[in-house]
Amino acid sequence: MVTRKDLIDKYLEFFKSKGHKVIPSASLIPSNDPTVLFTTAGMHPLVPYLLGQKHPLGKRLVNVQKCIRTTDIDEVGDETHHTFFEMLGNWSLGDYWKEDAIKYSYEFLTKTLQILPGKISVTCFKGDKNAQQDTESEKVWKLLKIKNIKFLGKEDNWWGPAGETGPCGPDTEMFVNGLEIWNDVFMQYNKTAEGKFIPLQQKNVDTGMGVERTLAILNNLDDNYLTDAWKPIINEIEEISGEKYKDNKKIMRIIADHLKASVFIIGDGVLPSNTGQGYVLRKLIRRAIYYGKEI
Ligand code: SER
Repeated sequence: MVTRKDLIDKYLEFFKSKGHKVIPSASLIPSNDPTVLFTTAGMHPLVPYLLGQKHPLGKRLVNVQKCIRTTDIDEVGDETHHTFFEMLGNWSLGDYWKEDAIKYSYEFLTKTLQILPGKISVTCFKGDKNAQQDTESEKVWKLLKIKNIKFLGKEDNWWGPAGETGPCGPDTEMFVNGLEIWNDVFMQYNKTAEGKFIPLQQKNVDTGMGVERTLAILNNLDDNYLTDAWKPIINEIEEISGEKYKDNKKIMRIIADHLKASVFIIGDGVLPSNTGQGYVLRKLIRRAIYYGKEI
């Protein structure tokens, strides 16, 4: 079994060997990005640096960032959606660009994680009125002998800004046996309040690899709750609830998900309230209570 710790250690070590400095996970409450309530991806703490400010640790960074996303809250309870999750990311702040980013991703997937190249397929941005087709990424993938390359539009191959405005750009996504494993975002635009895409003063790379999902893929599991990121909790729940777990699996997973997210939000200093983050926290706890009453 590849554990959460194995994956995180391998990722950080790999990017350290490529000159990256490890930065700690930032708080779930963004201090550098007023456009969002929660840290939903690794980029929030880095927004000023993506916009051109110098980062004290340099131009190559790597992190594992805790995230909260509530947009898919109705899917939580299935095998793959969570309100709290962790994301691995490597960052180039105006340093390396598409070729190195894609080569690092390929090397980590095929050499460090030993995924067979034949299982990998990718997508690239097909272009629109704001940005051209990403044939640069396509070229690199072809060089690496990836055969299955598709071009898709903004809904699929564009990331950001996380809120209304800020850094964003085309991305290239990697899939293993058809399941998305990693996203390399090429942040080269700043979206303005008027909806314009202005080139940033530097070209950045922002990659995101979800820990829970990647663990499922690496362990050939089709259920994130069976990976080491969740299994110890699920084992406890099964032990306490016995036969009841089978009949109420989905509900119990929703409750576990919401409590995990709540604990981490409270850990970052938020209390239930009527507004902002406190309101989301209150909703999560209320949902957990509501589902608890269902059992
Ligand atoms: N922000 C991008 C994502 O969430 C890449 O880190 O996929």
